[in-house]
Amino acid sequence: MPLSAQPVLSAPPARVDIQLGERSYPILIGAGLLDDPASFAATPAAASALIVSNTTVAPLYAKALRAALANRFRTVHLLELPDGEVYKNLETLNLIFDALLGHGSDRKTVLFALGGGVVGDMTGFAAASYMRGVPFVQVPTTLLAQVDSSVGGKTAINHPLGKNMIGAFYQPQLVVCDLGTLQTLPPRELSAGLAEVIKYGPIHDMAFFDWIETNIDALVARDPAALAYAVKRSCEIKALVVGQDERETGLRAILNFGHTFGHAIESGLGYGEWLHGEAVGCGMVMAAHLSQRLGGVDAAFVARLTRLIERAGLPIVGPALGADRYLELMRVDKKSEAGEIRFVVIDKPGSAAVSRAPDALVREVLAQCCAG
Ligand SMILES: NC(=O)c1ccc[n+]([C@@H]2O[C@H](COP(=O)([O-])OP(=O)(O)OC[C@H]3O[C@@H](n4cnc5c(N)ncnc54)[C@H](O)[C@@H]3O)[C@@H](O)[C@H]2O)c1
Ligand SMILES: [Zn+2]
Repeated sequence: MPLSAQPVLSAPPARVDIQLGERSYPILIGAGLLDDPASFAATPAAASALIVSNTTVAPLYAKALRAALANRFRTVHLLELPDGEVYKNLETLNLIFDALLGHGSDRKTVLFALGGGVVGDMTGFAAASYMRGVPFVQVPTTLLAQVDSSVGGKTAINHPLGKNMIGAFYQPQLVVCDLGTLQTLPPRELSAGLAEVIKYGPIHDMAFFDWIETNIDALVARDPAALAYAVKRSCEIKALVVGQDERETGLRAILNFGHTFGHAIESGLGYGEWLHGEAVGCGMVMAAHLSQRLGGVDAAFVARLTRLIERAGLPIVGPALGADRYLELMRVDKKSEAGEIRFVVIDKPGSAAVSRAPDALVREVLAQCCAG
């Protein structure tokens, strides 16, 4: 008997839970979630919702999200912010408050962040402070946002004197990662997201690091199954760390592997010149060299990590800002204490710690890892 044509059933979404007592929430991961009202079933009841997106992402996905939310909210408004890290500032944040107040939004209005980390961080901060806190949902559309920024409740804007310097810890009610959105990401953005995926290996899970090495070409080619596993495993590791240290009093700082150097690159070149993930990729190379000098890893490990970062399409040579400038920029990092820089270093493969390092060692690393 011939087989009758069966509709292709899409796999149910994977689910990772962030366990934070009464602030716990699920991360749903799968293809096509954005179009499916069921993805948003856990959204709190309210009369109105505001989708915050930007001029790049809204034309691609806002219509689908609006349709998926139509049966849950009487009104769904859309706000399109200008696109870019340079707009992650107080002025743009104020556009969200203008929209909320302009629409007469109340305390129950639910904010939806539809976009990458920039939209997510700003929308989260707006949600934390509008009427002292309204519910919000993250709908991350970049790989970086799906594996990192949308999860864990860090929200912020930049100040001209420092990145992410003004913000709040504020957890979303739900995170919906639609893997289909990754297909429209520019290649540079995909690579930037892979930096944060790679990060989870050296700091926590060398088996995952091995898996990424084996699958890096599939990830760069956006193989759906490879992306699905990378997002899920990354979220699991982030959930584990955030569940133990929501407010970064200790352990959570390890998620900043590569970020002390990376933030210096970003702000030294001017925000937006290098992408955050690119700066983090290169910053991990520097942090790995520093880890080697501090005795945590050997040269073979540094070479392996550097090769993987390069294969992900990320820069591995730092810009020639000059060591003095790097050090000056790193002293304003949030991990610094009394002007002393703290670095996340690998103390053995799969394990990270926060450490001081003598300036002389840092200068050696910079001399080795930077152009010019
Ligand atoms: N809160 C946290 O814990 C945390 C963690 C890591 C990074 N961050 C922050 O995240 C930001 C970086 O996030 P990002 O890398 O997502 O950058 P981004 O938000 O700027 O997005 C990158 C670019 O891709 C576009 N885009 C987004 N989704 C798209 C899609 N599906 N198709 C096509 N284009 C799309 C965006 O419009 C933008 O131009 C930084 O500001 C960083 O500080 C925060
Ligand atoms: Zn980051």
